[in-house]
Amino acid sequence: MSKKKIAVLAGDGIGKEVIAHAIDVLRASGAEVEFTEFDWGADRYLRDSVTVPADGFSLLANGFDAVLAGAFGDPRVQFNIHAREILLGMRSHLDLYANVRPVKLLDSLLCPLKDCSPEDVNFTIIRENTEGMYGDLGGVFKRGTADEIAVQEDVNTWKGVERVIRYAFEHARQHGRRRVLMSDKSNALTHAGSLWQRVWQEVGGEYPDIEKQHMYVDALALAMVRAPRQFEVIVTNNLFGDILTDLGAALQGGLGMAASGNIHPGRTSMFEPVHGSAPDIAGRDLANPMGAIASAAMMLAHLGLTQEAARIDAAILSAVRQRKLTPDVGGTLGTRACGEWIASHI
Ligand SMILES: NC(=O)c1ccc[n+]([C@@H]2O[C@H](COP(=O)([O-])OP(=O)(O)OC[C@H]3O[C@@H](n4cnc5c(N)ncnc54)[C@H](O)[C@@H]3O)[C@@H](O)[C@H]2O)c1
Repeated sequence: MSKKKIAVLAGDGIGKEVIAHAIDVLRASGAEVEFTEFDWGADRYLRDSVTVPADGFSLLANGFDAVLAGAFGDPRVQFNIHAREILLGMRSHLDLYANVRPVKLLDSLLCPLKDCSPEDVNFTIIRENTEGMYGDLGGVFKRGTADEIAVQEDVNTWKGVERVIRYAFEHARQHGRRRVLMSDKSNALTHAGSLWQRVWQEVGGEYPDIEKQHMYVDALALAMVRAPRQFEVIVTNNLFGDILTDLGAALQGGLGMAASGNIHPGRTSMFEPVHGSAPDIAGRDLANPMGAIASAAMMLAHLGLTQEAARIDAAILSAVRQRKLTPDVGGTLGTRACGEWIASHI
């Protein structure tokens, strides 16, 4: 088998720190992969005003099997314009419509809920990743006056909703899950909600083997805290998914633990930790590398390298059980020591 080509975009802040360890762990896993590093990020933008070089996205789409990204965001860059162009640009140019975020508690110690075991928190949130409120449609009128009006449009297409709901059902089947829950706010956001409801009914009819549930997003937020065990696969829109997955990250120990994949089946997909560039701790050897390392394992599984992925997941689990943890999850190790421990226990 030829080596899988991985484009690495470590990005800014702690992105660079955690991705270095994700690469070490990938190498230790024995996976047949080769890396090409890209310097897209704040430093480059501040140096030569380039966010994404010409043909950058088509290079990723055509020259690589997958992208491994760190995080983008830097207080030196006004409005983080580079982060928006790189990150949202990748999601939109590569059409990465399914943002897959596992919410998996590895050890009770990490959960802020009392009496919560790993069996209680083990589900996946699938967030629509290309439309909704994040399309930058809208406008501001009478800016700077007492009559200022800001309009932000929520775009929902049949095609966009249909493919992400279908992805959720397919994901459930492939991972031995029996239930899919769709969450919206169709009682208040009636136009978009009606479209989601109709697509949900139509596509759901094609999956008689999967149990279908529905919750309004506010009720779901409450239920994720009070009774998370009932969930297996949750599918929702871009904005609700963004918020719910931070809550999900908290259930599994915090942002440092959470992994994600930005996926378009059959095309170059992108994997990244859920957290941002964390300028408050960047360069201080404090960042938890587990979310980035777990994202690298998700990438391998997506590429069909399931044994190597399982080795990495097992090493992360051992690190948690043996308390080889960074301070954000109650440990005393630095980023480097935690990352090296995992790499050496594959
Ligand atoms: N996908 C991305 O690239 C992404 C995601 C979110 C935020 N951002 C950007 O990152 C910058 C900082 O944003 P923010 O502070 O809102 O979110 P953040 O995720 O960077 O940090 C939030 C808090 O969590 C902590 N934290 C995050 N990851 C951690 C880790 N791995 N280990 C230990 N602690 C960790 C941080 O120290 C901070 O206190 C902003 O520019 C933002 O736009 C980027």
